[in-house]
Amino acid sequence: MKLIFLVLGMLPLLAQAADTSTKINVSSCEVCHGKNGVGKNEFPRLGGQEPAYFVKQLQDFRAGTRSNPMMQSVAKSMSEADMAQYAAYFSKLPLPAAKASTEDAALLAEGESLAKNGDWPKGIPACFQCHGENGQGISRDFPQITGQPARYTAAQIANWKSGSRSNDAIGLMKTVSDKLTDGQIKAVSAYLSQGVTK
Ligand code: HEC
Ligand code: HEC
Repeated sequence: MKLIFLVLGMLPLLAQAADTSTKINVSSCEVCHGKNGVGKNEFPRLGGQEPAYFVKQLQDFRAGTRSNPMMQSVAKSMSEADMAQYAAYFSKLPLPAAKASTEDAALLAEGESLAKNGDWPKGIPACFQCHGENGQGISRDFPQITGQPARYTAAQIANWKSGSRSNDAIGLMKTVSDKLTDGQIKAVSAYLSQGVTK
């Protein structure tokens, strides 16, 4: 009997030891990014993102080449090992199920066409040409863009246009963003927010 009490008494200690060994605190991210990092409004979805891209963004926030007061202060307190652990955790979460946008059908059709075909007369390549089939991402350099809140996607494109985000390799996204009209940004952001709709 005494032995059982002794073992039970040790359980909380064992649980504590497991917590401190991982060091990362996912719920501190979920406060803004939502449960399981699903994202909402200006807070991007973290689940399913390319892990090397995820780490690069944290490094860029820390270095200041991507500016956002909230994330810069979060990233400044992280070590390289923390960044890798958060990236490993969130990248393994599954994509949320596709959900229909409430925007009107004509706008969504315009967004779909931009994502899949681009707008060649204006020199805009298809988004999926760089971001992979259905925008699911390819590598460190070409992130997943499907399933992001529309407000977040539109804000990033606006940031490249204004120059407040300047961390894209060889200016690829800056070049694309500069050519997009406000209507096209709204359309493609709404279309992408629906997630993978294969
Ligand atoms: C106070 C709110 C807040 C907290 C807490 C927070 N974030 Fe963020 N995070 C943001 C916002 C806002 C953005 C979008 C910034 C922008 O518009 O450029 C962002 C962007 C990111 C990005 C870039 C995503 C992409 O697709 O480019 C990563 C990665 C990220 N956060 C990871 C984390 C991690 C890991 C944690 C927890 C340790 C965390 N965040 C905690 C607000 C927050
Ligand atoms: C020529 C290649 C190319 C094309 C075409 C392209 N992108 Fe990108 N995009 C990039 C690169 C490179 C990055 C990564 C920037 C970085 O490293 O921070 C990126 C990043 C993004 C991001 C930021 C993701 C995040 O969460 O941080 C969004 C949003 C985005 N692209 C949307 C689009 C949309 C919408 C289109 C189509 C209208 C498009 N892209 C077309 C190359 C491209």
